Amino acid sequence: MINQDLLEALFDKSDLELALYQINQLDSEKIVFSTSFGIEDQVVSHAIFSQNLTNIETFTLDTGRLYPETYSVWDKTLLQYGVKIKSFSPDTLDIENFVEEKGINAFYESIELRKECCYLRKVAPLKRALAGAKIWITGLRAEQSQNRNDLKIVEWDAQFQLYKFNPLLHWTYEEVKAYALKNGVPYNPLHDQGFVSIGCAPCTRAIKEGEDFRAGRWWWEDNSKKECGLHQK
Ligand code: ADX
Ligand code: SF4
Repeated sequence: MINQDLLEALFDKSDLELALYQINQLDSEKIVFSTSFGIEDQVVSHAIFSQNLTNIETFTLDTGRLYPETYSVWDKTLLQYGVKIKSFSPDTLDIENFVEEKGINAFYESIELRKECCYLRKVAPLKRALAGAKIWITGLRAEQSQNRNDLKIVEWDAQFQLYKFNPLLHWTYEEVKAYALKNGVPYNPLHDQGFVSIGCAPCTRAIKEGEDFRAGRWWWEDNSKKECGLHQK
């Protein structure tokens, strides 16, 4: 039976490959990794795919509103590593109703509508993706926001009732980029155009020098509201 102490003992390593290798050994549990195809997730993907860690199921949430560049890096990843990545889509009827009732870009109108869109396009599919999982691996980093600063490498996620593992928590953006370059990891070209954190196209833009990492996400909203429900932080 896994628990926080056991997981911390396994994961408290600065060696990304080794940590993921050891998680992969816990093959009696369902272990999943969520990728948005951002550069952090590409680094984690590389560590998983290059070691052929097949007990870790990689999935993505295809909101239907991603950048074309994100779909390209997704495709490149499949080709480069010769893997399959499970994609979870929003419920067709929910989206059809929402778009008909509220409009195609309703998220700009209010925080409530923005959260409703995030719920339908991300959180509801995430619930399906995490069903039965005991460990959820993410690419979250502390540097990304004030809130994420106090995350832990191993966290109990009460909302989804599983352990969350954030192996890149203490990596800097430069370290992530250096790892990607050194290992020939395919990454989204938007990262070289000022996009540090990349989500849906209508809700993400490039940031200027000196701006917060998440300043380009839902930029029209107050900082304290900037989460989409995938993570509490
Ligand atoms: S978000 O909450 O603001 O959307 P962010 O883009 O910072 O999250 O990504 C943090 C982590 O959440 C990623 O490393 C990844 O594990 C997961 N994630 C975010 N978006 C997606 C997505 N579309 N599909 C799968 N995982 C995602
Ligand atoms: Fe909808 Fe924007 Fe949230 Fe994507 S990020 S699900 S488009 S509100």
